[in-house]
Amino acid sequence: MLGNFTYCNPTKLYFGKDALDGLNEELPKYGKNVLLVYGGGSIKSNGVYDKVIKILKDNGKNVFEDAGVMPNPTSEKLNEGLARAKAAKADLILAVGGGSVCDYAKAVSVSVNCNDDPWDKYFIRFEEPACKIIPVGCVLTMVGTGSEMNGGSVITNREQKLKIGHVFGENVFPKFSVLNPEFTFTVPKEQMVSGIYDIMSHILEQYFSGMDDNTSDYIMEGLLRSLIHSANIAVENPTDYEARSNIMWTATWALNTLVAKGKTTDWMVHMLGQAVAAHTDATHGMTLAAVSIPYYRRILPYGLKKFARYAVNVWGVNPEGKTQIKVAEEGLLAMEEWMKKIGLTMNLTALGATEQMLDGIVKSTLIMDGGYKVLDENDVRAVLKASF
Ligand code: NZQ
Ligand code: ZN
Repeated sequence: MLGNFTYCNPTKLYFGKDALDGLNEELPKYGKNVLLVYGGGSIKSNGVYDKVIKILKDNGKNVFEDAGVMPNPTSEKLNEGLARAKAAKADLILAVGGGSVCDYAKAVSVSVNCNDDPWDKYFIRFEEPACKIIPVGCVLTMVGTGSEMNGGSVITNREQKLKIGHVFGENVFPKFSVLNPEFTFTVPKEQMVSGIYDIMSHILEQYFSGMDDNTSDYIMEGLLRSLIHSANIAVENPTDYEARSNIMWTATWALNTLVAKGKTTDWMVHMLGQAVAAHTDATHGMTLAAVSIPYYRRILPYGLKKFARYAVNVWGVNPEGKTQIKVAEEGLLAMEEWMKKIGLTMNLTALGATEQMLDGIVKSTLIMDGGYKVLDENDVRAVLKASF
């Protein structure tokens, strides 16, 4: 049965080849000082930086920069960013980049006017912001996380070996996001594929929870089929606009809170992947790919009916004359073959993890209770071991 919920997503989207023009509509709504946040320089080499700067200048903004946001942004960098935003007296934080840059911008936005240590407050104690939040806007250049239309922010504390996400409320969602699929054409193939699997994992971790037969399940099956179809095209031809635009749109819907409404969710693959990243700094989507199949094989007997449904409705497995378990297993096998085909990293060793790290990774794994089986420490260890 669909549970009770309220639904509101306040992010305004500008989508398509002219999406950046949306900045001309948005910028006049905010004060003069804009903190432009970006990563390691891809936006300079692909021309997005110049386009954004021109629009900011045309709109009479004072531009302050905070560059060098790394993939898996750190608490150390967050402290640097909030000092910069404070010094700039930022009226708007404009994030231009992938999920790391968007997540980081949100973390800065809730930390500038807060007197506590932001890591402790938001990522250890999971408190909500009680201070004035600086509005955030995003220009997305890498697809996968859904950060462009949600309140998620994932920060890594390298010293504590923890990578933790805080899902903030609507007041922290980006006020607007610019989604031009062409801006993603320069993303390296490995990164594109990693993003594709991030999308798939977001959908699956909301799908594989509960046995209700509700609208969300049908939406998610549709999103998965579109994703698989478009990914197959994009892997062959990364500049296929139709495929890249469909992937971009699917990513947004996969994690903009809609499909989770009224149902339970799992998120254990993300908890395992984040623990791996806390020890290896590996690419987000690849950490998820490396642990997924061992995790799903372990929980399959507890969610058999849903895994069989997944096999038939998403992977086209023919159920005739087969037991439910056979159908479910064939679904996972089809998924595994497809993951290999598109070039995902399927084991932890290839991501730089060693058996010596195992105890540490187990310790860094937060256990969630919404999946078909609530894992204990032995399960976590077994899944990770099977992922090496
Ligand atoms: O730093 P630059 O030079 O820009 O290069 C980036 C980076 O190296 C590059 N890139 C981005 N756009 C590009 C490009 N290169 C060429 N052309 C372009 N157009 O891609 C690399 C990865 O970027 P990153 O932002 O790290 O990737 P992604 O979007 O996958 O973000 C990953 C982060 O988001 C978090 C992850 O944990 C990770 O920290 N997540 C956030 C979520 C949320 N807000 O809801 C949920 C997700 O599950 C995820 O956990
Ligand atoms: Zn993710």
